[in-house]
Amino acid sequence: MIVALLNQKGGVGKSTLALHLAGQWAREGRRVALVDADPQGSALDWSQARAAAALPRLFGVLGLARDTLHREAPELARHTDHVVIDGPPRVASLMRSALLAADLVLIPVQPSPFDGWASAEMLALLAEARIYRPELVARFVLNRTVGRTVIARATADALADHDPPLLGARVGQRVVFAQAAQRGQLAFELDDSAAASREIALLAAEVQALGR
Ligand SMILES: Nc1ncnc2c1ncn2[C@@H]1O[C@H](COP(=O)(O)OP(=O)(O)OP(=O)(O)O)[C@@H](O)[C@H]1O
Ligand SMILES: [Mg+2]
Repeated sequence: MIVALLNQKGGVGKSTLALHLAGQWAREGRRVALVDADPQGSALDWSQARAAAALPRLFGVLGLARDTLHREAPELARHTDHVVIDGPPRVASLMRSALLAADLVLIPVQPSPFDGWASAEMLALLAEARIYRPELVARFVLNRTVGRTVIARATADALADHDPPLLGARVGQRVVFAQAAQRGQLAFELDDSAAASREIALLAAEVQALGR
């Protein structure tokens, strides 16, 4: 399955969730490749930090921030169980290519009282991709939730009737994600018993079930 993490909004958790989904599936024994489709190269930076700290390789990380992504991804998918694409903010041509490559699009969103979870352009690109690929599945995923706040609840309620729908699994606001990122690690490597690890395992299971 090719899963793309996309949202034109910056800093919503595309890279964090892409790395953790890839890491979770790798942990479960699946062959995974992560494609960094963001010219900023956050996932490549993470991989480099990991190599510098002499930590073992969990999955392959390749930089491919080109709009030929959809031509390359199927070949990668043939040699792996899952390809995870970490998408760029803004760049529409790269997003379009990622949308043509993906079987499943995850749109991370943060709890917000505003109606700005994904830009109108993002949803327009998704609608456009679905013309060519009606089988393309898309879901919002709520990231950085804080407890049972009114805003988290309101965001979930607002997204409940939305298309694309909201995934059941949520990821909380947890410092371990930021700490792990800086060291080229994943949350489970810092604290496997923590809530962050449980949430990622549930997210990976729900996403994988959508691919069946
Ligand atoms: N659930 C979380 N809990 C705590 N910190 C988080 C969480 N998700 C993301 N972050 C932090 O928020 C920042 C932005 O996250 P990330 O880089 O994953 O977003 P992005 O959507 O990939 O951003 P960009 O659009 O710039 O590529 C990072 O510092 C990351 O560590
Ligand atoms: Mg990113």
